[in-house]
Amino acid sequence: QDDKFKKVISHAKEYGYVFQSSEIYDGLSAVYDYAQNGAELKKNIRDYWWKAMVQMNENIVGIDAAIFMHPTTWKASGHVDAFNDPLIDNKDSKKRYRADVLIEDYCAKIEAKIDKEVKKAAKRFGDAFNKEEFVSTNGRVLGYQEKINTILSRMAKSLENEDLADVKALIEELEIADPLTGSKNWTDVKQFNLMFGTKLGASAESAMDLYLRPETAQGIFVNFLNVQKTGRMKIPFGIAQTGKAFRNEIVARQFIFRMREFEQMEMQFFIKPGTQKEWYEHWKETRLKWHHSLGMGADLYRFHDHEKLAHYADAAADIEFKFPFGFKELEGIHSRTDFDLKAHEEYSGKKLQYFDPEENKSYVPYVLETSIGLDRMFLAVFSNSLQEEELENGTTRTVLKLPSVLAPVKAAILPLVKKDGLPEIARKIVDELKWDFNVIYDEKDAVGRRYRRQDANGTPFCITVDHDTLEDNTVTIRHRDTMAQERVKIDDLRDIIKKEVDV
Ligand code: GAP
Repeated sequence: QDDKFKKVISHAKEYGYVFQSSEIYDGLSAVYDYAQNGAELKKNIRDYWWKAMVQMNENIVGIDAAIFMHPTTWKASGHVDAFNDPLIDNKDSKKRYRADVLIEDYCAKIEAKIDKEVKKAAKRFGDAFNKEEFVSTNGRVLGYQEKINTILSRMAKSLENEDLADVKALIEELEIADPLTGSKNWTDVKQFNLMFGTKLGASAESAMDLYLRPETAQGIFVNFLNVQKTGRMKIPFGIAQTGKAFRNEIVARQFIFRMREFEQMEMQFFIKPGTQKEWYEHWKETRLKWHHSLGMGADLYRFHDHEKLAHYADAAADIEFKFPFGFKELEGIHSRTDFDLKAHEEYSGKKLQYFDPEENKSYVPYVLETSIGLDRMFLAVFSNSLQEEELENGTTRTVLKLPSVLAPVKAAILPLVKKDGLPEIARKIVDELKWDFNVIYDEKDAVGRRYRRQDANGTPFCITVDHDTLEDNTVTIRHRDTMAQERVKIDDLRDIIKKEVDV
């Protein structure tokens, strides 16, 4: 699995998808740049989301709020007081860790022991092996499992009660060592706010302390009434937006899974109080369907219902995705009640209420939120699409089987040779198609190598112009996934591509 993830990271670099930020200065940790293909893929994912959420829903509109917001916003939202991670420093190495992650990693090691036992038994029993039965009857495995449960539930309880001394005690009892140096010399656990601070204004005295927004949602809440009134929106209705968010993440080591600067795609759906259960179910199902619509396989997704809820929620679930390092959160669906709007009413002194003409009364609406990280979605799509295929002739090919609708380049137009007028025809095809699709021209290397290059780049179609084209205006179109080739008319190319790449 580690190998697969390493391949994903190096492929993303080699094919111009993702670069380390400021790489010539040795990079900046957990900050990344999207390169020529990455920017296209990211834009296509954003568009795919926007189309499904805004364009296809009469009662959802999109906005684009500023990253800087009045500092009181973050008091009201609870981020100043509650957006914290428990941190612990190692006194010898001077390295800082998230205390909960140290404990979770310790449990993952125990879990690995369970896996080892299971694998050993599977080998021993062969076809007769039944995993569930083995796990439920094997004393040692049950012991490991119990240990994990005890540790994690104690940690959850301590964190919930803000009993940081007990979190430290747990780390010491388990004799957890600094993963880099092995030292067990820990400081106390402290809460650390994840927001980045900055200043607005010229002089030191008059400057105002600001935060870079840690979520886009608050830009929607503070605009709720403006949008409702100017858009004459009737409940239930939604406001969607995509944009950058910033968090000073401490454990930021899984490529673009957890970044310090990232992009969110969020939608707040304003509803009548009391209807949140049905809308919660509705949006869980709707968002899962959106993921399934990409056709990567339903087995890659699962729900994880939260037991421990964030300060604003009365129900919450994640859509988890099978990343190369296991099932992890991709999107959150949160029933946020009237927590945010009420808090903004309180802190701003302005009413944020909706007059319901059917009920003939005003109320603060409840909110159902869907929130997905664009970069995380990028990683999901990219890592799942990267495949090594054994071919019939014994060779392997690297192919990036991106859903066609998301692929950065939809077609590569290739003249078979660089003479006899073939490049001119190929250029003409590019000129005709580029109004509708992102297409490229490539004449370098033998055609087989060019096919492989486009496979690895995720391009769904290669279109080859050869000498027969001069006679009958047909070209060869090659499909990335099947490698099947067919002869088609140049005039039909637009429709063929459109059929495949349009939603
Ligand atoms: N407004 C609700 C909210 O922000 P969240 O669970 O903290 O909820 C929502 O974040 C989504 O944003 C996550 O499911 C994840 O996809 C993405 N996300 C959060 N932190 C991230 C980070 N540091 N790097 C990349 N994506 C992140």
